[in-house]
Amino acid sequence: MRIVYLNGDYVPKSAAKISVFDRGLLFSDAVYEVISVIDGRLIDMERHVARLERSLGELSINAFADWLAVSQQLVSDNGLQEGLVYLQVSRGVMDERDYRWPAPDTPPTIFAFAQERVLIANPMADSGMRIITRPDLRWQRCDIKTTQLLYASLMKMEAVAAGVDDVWMTRDDLVTEGTSQNAYIITRDGILISHQLDRAILPGVTRIEMLAQAKSLGLTVEERAFSIDEAKDAAEAFISSSTLLVMPVVEIDGHRIGDGRPGERTGKIRQNYLAAVQDGHSTKN
Ligand code: PDD
Repeated sequence: MRIVYLNGDYVPKSAAKISVFDRGLLFSDAVYEVISVIDGRLIDMERHVARLERSLGELSINAFADWLAVSQQLVSDNGLQEGLVYLQVSRGVMDERDYRWPAPDTPPTIFAFAQERVLIANPMADSGMRIITRPDLRWQRCDIKTTQLLYASLMKMEAVAAGVDDVWMTRDDLVTEGTSQNAYIITRDGILISHQLDRAILPGVTRIEMLAQAKSLGLTVEERAFSIDEAKDAAEAFISSSTLLVMPVVEIDGHRIGDGRPGERTGKIRQNYLAAVQDGHSTKN
């Protein structure tokens, strides 16, 4: 039986009910985290908790829970070996629909669930992803991990309609990030370019460890936005996220990247990233 967490209780999925007056439902007044689970262990949990607390702080949502204990309990109750834990916190339930926030002592709605997913043996690591670009029409606080995901969802459907794997979004012809991943290129001079951390992108948890691994492989990292043309001309391209880890990109807007196969350095970064999170940087159950 699938067990989920809701406001302090671990209950069967069918028993978890949320009010129609929840601000998460009516205003997307909610933040979330997706934590990968490999071999039954939560990966980089401390960094996910730090980002969750930052998102909550930016929106003045008062919510406290033992995020690690909740996540561990879900992994164990559901016998999860590989996949993810999803945690969501909304500002809570209003008496009436109102744009203005309820009193600060309104209890938040906190829920979480575990979900199976193949992470390590994802065949896309061998085939690479095909990407199209589209304008980034999201709001200007993409550094906060809110549940306002409708634009990202529309873009995923554009990718499906175009027969490709995902979309990289652009502002003024500069790539911000993927619909649900951070985006990178390795130039022909061997420089790894990663968008700087600002309000245009989500500060990816995977990005932190991935960049550390890239540096230890001897790559120079430049933190700045890159253009679509630079991306098309790159030697390699890839993405990072908790659900895809590090994944090569082999085509952008119909242009092959490099020789059209997953890049060698990208492959090494993925391998070293996996080794690092599996032994040192993951939080054990
Ligand atoms: N998304 N950028 C965006 C817009 C994202 O939604 C995500 C993650 C990332 C990568 O962040 P991280 O490395 O911390 O997973 C970048 C999650 C996986 C999701 O929405 O499912």
